[in-house]
Amino acid sequence: MNESVKRAVVPMPILPGATIGFLGGGQLGRMTALAARSMGYDVHVLDPDPACATKPIASRVITAAYSDVNAAIDLASHCDVVTLEIEQIHADVLAAVARHAPMRPGRDAVYIIQERLRQKEWLKANDFPVGAFASVNSVQALAGAVQSFGPSIAKSTHGGYDGRGQARLSAAEQANGAWHALGGQTCIVEKLVDIDYEISVLVARGPAGETVAYPPSRNHHTNGILTWAVIPAVIDDAMCARATSVATAIAQRIDIVGLLAVECFVTRDGTLLVNELAPRPHNTYHHSERGCDTSQFEQLVRAVCGLPLGSTAVHTPSAIVNVLGDVWMHDVVPDIPRALRVPGSRLHLYGKSGAREGRKMGHLSAVGDSAQLALSRVLESYRALSPNTVSTFDVHEPVLGA
Ligand SMILES: Nc1ncnc2c1ncn2[C@@H]1O[C@H](COP(=O)(O)OP(=O)(O)OP(=O)(O)O)[C@@H](O)[C@H]1O
Ligand SMILES: [Mg+2]
Repeated sequence: MNESVKRAVVPMPILPGATIGFLGGGQLGRMTALAARSMGYDVHVLDPDPACATKPIASRVITAAYSDVNAAIDLASHCDVVTLEIEQIHADVLAAVARHAPMRPGRDAVYIIQERLRQKEWLKANDFPVGAFASVNSVQALAGAVQSFGPSIAKSTHGGYDGRGQARLSAAEQANGAWHALGGQTCIVEKLVDIDYEISVLVARGPAGETVAYPPSRNHHTNGILTWAVIPAVIDDAMCARATSVATAIAQRIDIVGLLAVECFVTRDGTLLVNELAPRPHNTYHHSERGCDTSQFEQLVRAVCGLPLGSTAVHTPSAIVNVLGDVWMHDVVPDIPRALRVPGSRLHLYGKSGAREGRKMGHLSAVGDSAQLALSRVLESYRALSPNTVSTFDVHEPVLGA
């Protein structure tokens, strides 16, 4: 298609004053809704939890299951565009929404991403770099995969997050226990990657196919849960360019409209492998709100509304640490004033009642003149917040770039 024809089919932007619908009202929906509100949009949300984190920001809250087609249609028929903050929404629901309002991201991209095995197979079939994996549907097949891979991780195909629905195996004898722990159904087994460090790249793509990529974020997990993230990642230029080009190519190929987060491993021998994709704002880019010209939340609003995508440049190095419910356990009161005494720090709470172990309640962020300083500060702030629960997370500070 030539340029003028392409321009002619670009949809009109959805301007402030319009209403954005959110499938999912957790913290990602809440922070995106706040950005939408500050740009002058109205916000409606559908979530199974009547007290969801986005509720205080939305002018309409529909309490319904994500599988409730009629409720989703009700949402869509009162909105100018619908987006999502969770990928576990049935493709039929997304297709029904799309008959009433633009659904961004669309059904096909979400369908590929929402099932781990389908997603990995799609990445492999499209020649994107992934580690060794296998689909297994019995204890014997799981044992066989571990025998051939060596140390491995078995992951359920649906619904896992924050390391849930995963089992690590170092020997075939552990297959029986792992198989049953994961519910005794088809799962994906991955060879344990010899990780040097983890990064992610967030790409935004508009309805006309234009893209922008954020500089990579360097990330650290403890027991499968994101502990901290820092931008810029302080990695060599060649790896930065490779990760950016792989992530951008994935966003194009999967035809995302909105945001696509690409989580990656870099192995000790310097190979980049794609771990997984997310078609929405991502925990590893919460620092974009402090450090980038355009936060990921504003960027999602711009992308789904067909507005010009914003600059992704890092104006100030910034870092975040997640704050889990663990910090409130055993009648401990986190020392918020002490945490906020750290220069450059800020507290972001999601307004969730009911702290539970492992539940993301908020995050701390910090800025500094360098990525190292931003990371030091945010870890210092976290230690000050919860001196007795530091063991929940591995908060030792690496020398970035070393
Ligand atoms: N094949 C692997 N080899 C080595 N480490 C891995 C592998 N798969 C996962 N991990 C580790 O576990 C973390 C979480 O894994 P993964 O991203 O698959 O799970 P998740 O539960 O979907 O996480 P989230 O939704 O929070 O991103 C990874 O970031 C990495 O630290
Ligand atoms: Mg992950």
